[in-house]
Amino acid sequence: MSIQLPTGTKDLLPDEAAFWDHFTDTAKRVFGCYGYQPVVTPLIEQTNLFVRGIGTATDVVSKEMFTAVSGENLKKLVAGEGIDEKDRLSLRPEGTAGVVRAVVQHNLVQQGSAPVKLMYAGPMFRAERPQKGRLRQFNQVGIECLGAEEPSIDAEGIIMLMRFYEEIGIPRESMVLLLNSMGCENCRPAYRDAVHAYLEQHVDELCDDCRRRMDINPLRAFDCKKEGCIRVMESAPRITDYLCDDCKAHHQAVKGYLDAAGIAYVEDYKLVRGLDYYTRTVFEVQATDSASAQSAIGGGGRYDKLAEEVGGKPTPGFGFALGFERCVIALEAAGATFTPPRACEVFVACVSDDERPTAFSLVQSLRAHGVKTDMSHQKRSLKSQFKLANKLNARYVVTLGPDEVAASAATLRNMDTHEEESVAFADMPARAAELVAAGE
Ligand code: HAM
Repeated sequence: MSIQLPTGTKDLLPDEAAFWDHFTDTAKRVFGCYGYQPVVTPLIEQTNLFVRGIGTATDVVSKEMFTAVSGENLKKLVAGEGIDEKDRLSLRPEGTAGVVRAVVQHNLVQQGSAPVKLMYAGPMFRAERPQKGRLRQFNQVGIECLGAEEPSIDAEGIIMLMRFYEEIGIPRESMVLLLNSMGCENCRPAYRDAVHAYLEQHVDELCDDCRRRMDINPLRAFDCKKEGCIRVMESAPRITDYLCDDCKAHHQAVKGYLDAAGIAYVEDYKLVRGLDYYTRTVFEVQATDSASAQSAIGGGGRYDKLAEEVGGKPTPGFGFALGFERCVIALEAAGATFTPPRACEVFVACVSDDERPTAFSLVQSLRAHGVKTDMSHQKRSLKSQFKLANKLNARYVVTLGPDEVAASAATLRNMDTHEEESVAFADMPARAAELVAAGE
């Protein structure tokens, strides 16, 4: 059997790859209006970055990381020798830790300067059990804003995300925005203790994972999908009863901005998110129409301690990421369609092989003018060349016979409207470019 792609990965074939381009272009345009600039960080980082940044109690770090070592270090490991901590690398399971590492390393947030607003797009890797909407390599678009602790940054980010979904074609009524606050280092410890004490009373009803994580991070139990744990957590203490005054004020202010912008949300005190770096605002957007169990199409929140966790100076942060493949599922459920750009605008056909050299140079000159142009490189009848033009969805066809070659002019035929126009070869590139730009 031929070699197949690895489990949990997906090929984006031309139509879907074109949609990925449209998706990222839209993100650049929408997020750009809010001051976000692109950043590209490596797909591999030191494993320690994720361990310290995301937290050892999370599934992402404890179960799902793809760890990589160079051939040389692999030999050492196989031989039972140790390798340097910095040589233990992992494929990034998410983008935030790497972006924060880059911001700290390059000192992008200077005292008193404006916050830095960054956006990224690309693959993330998590060794999860694959299913519809859950891949081992998936694509995210995300943003991170570092250096601002104001609630307006959180609200602006959420508003921008909802605007993006709508621009991409997911109707507002097909989504629900869940909102919560995780508190801060002042109020969360008391809340953790309260949840821990509650879990101790219900330890027999918890799954092995929740029991194991109970002492490291009891809040993870809110994220557990096991029925018994979900039942237990229904009556667990609520963070809203433990927030300090500052966190309460921050949360109220975020909600106030969202209300003013007409963004509907549902307060979900059980929303803790699967990554340990969050403080204060957390949110998730779920698609409501999709039949897929993986309905979270995006999520994020504030992480005011992460920069310190990776060795930087105190720098508040806020961000989110959205999953491309899950958005595609949500769009399909909403019946949205995407028409990929044409692969060919002008097709040049030849009556016989004699016209081929002229066709070849005409094709080059059209392409040099930025017009997507093609011809057949195989010996084909005129009929089969027209079939090919049709398959390529070419908007115009130019047919060259001996008369056209002799006159150095040919007919540009619009395949949609059947309109025809005789154009000299010398004028053909400029005229075709003009018609294509006008969408005629
Ligand atoms: P996350 O919730 O882990 O957050 O992932 C964000 C989105 O990526 C999810 O809502 C989902 O759409 C998509 N996603 C996650 N895992 C998979 C998977 N296995 N297969 C397909 N899609 C998936 C983060 O990654 C944070 N870094 C977001 C953030 C940025 N928080 C602050 N800044």
